[in-house]
Amino acid sequence: ASILVLHGPNLNLLGTREPGHYGANTLEDINATLTEQCHRFGHHCMSLQSNAEYELIERIHEARSEGVDFIIFNPAAFTHTSVALRDALLAVAIPFIEVHLSNVYKREAFRHTSYFSDIAEGVICGLGAEGYQLALTAAMSRLEN
Ligand code: DQA
Repeated sequence: ASILVLHGPNLNLLGTREPGHYGANTLEDINATLTEQCHRFGHHCMSLQSNAEYELIERIHEARSEGVDFIIFNPAAFTHTSVALRDALLAVAIPFIEVHLSNVYKREAFRHTSYFSDIAEGVICGLGAEGYQLALTAAMSRLEN
């Protein structure tokens, strides 16, 4: 199957960005681990990080024409702001898991609301980079069933 991993704004700075919240792993580390995990189970993995809402929306649209089966998405700050990304995911109807490195519920009140959680297959937050691997494991087991 084909799995797309999407990373929202500022996640290109992982490794140096507020390590107390986001850990020491870089985005390259995270993507490499996910690609390896996908290949081990015979799946195809693609990823995109963008700081632009427009690019993430366009990538989600393309995912439908490419036949992407599952999306793992950390919308980062767009989690709390983007009706447009929510609508894109509803439009393509590709199942997705929402991931956050930090435990957003331990943080500012504005991070407690998400435009994605109620339409996601599941949500993982607060487990750092491991959260992506757990999301991928869940995605693969859903794709097998
Ligand atoms: C984040 C949490 C968001 O509130 C924040 O804006 C981010 C990253 C996380 O992974 O913990 O940029 O999605």
